[in-house]
Amino acid sequence: MSTNDNINELKRVLFNESEINSRLDELAECVSNQYHKCKLTVVPIMNGSLMLAVDLLRRLEIDFDLRCLNVESYYGETKTSGEVFINSIRMPNFSGRHVLIVDDIFDTGKTLEAVVERIKCECNPIKVSSLTLVKKKKETDVNITPDFVGFEVDDLFLVGYGLDYHGKYRNLPVIGELKKEIIANSTF
Ligand code: IMP
Ligand code: MG
Repeated sequence: MSTNDNINELKRVLFNESEINSRLDELAECVSNQYHKCKLTVVPIMNGSLMLAVDLLRRLEIDFDLRCLNVESYYGETKTSGEVFINSIRMPNFSGRHVLIVDDIFDTGKTLEAVVERIKCECNPIKVSSLTLVKKKKETDVNITPDFVGFEVDDLFLVGYGLDYHGKYRNLPVIGELKKEIIANSTF
């Protein structure tokens, strides 16, 4: 199976490489402007935000610390389990620092809510903000919304550019909608 075969499993591409890159230029400029006078720690949520974090952070024109967090909430299905596991026994101390959480996608918002709450309660930051590359347009039960959003999309299951289905498709250079039959015929 090559990346080309995986592209054929998309119903359609929503955002191609050049659209992602231009939006990253804009987001990086907003983040650089917002935090140029602050001590900033960026907290990418792994694994989904790996590509985003690399491409966004190398565009930033300010100094920042980096502290990745491993978070699991999906368990490979196309719907969230609702439970969020932060795989960090001891949370870092962010006292005196502004924190920017970076995640691939905002769906129900439960992941971001759990991470923000945990950091606020345990890490003593000045302020916690968040950025997601994609945000689904849907009603949520959470009282949080990302401060920076790359693209707003309908409530579809997307893959590519870090977003996965059972660990697959993360390396697609585009973000697209997975064909329904791929999910229906999945043997996972
Ligand atoms: P939330 O907690 O429901 O907002 O979901 C956030 C996490 O679920 C994201 O960080 C993704 O890892 C995963 N997720 C949500 N929607 C999608 C999707 O459309 N494709 C792939 N992963 C998704
Ligand atoms: Mg994720």
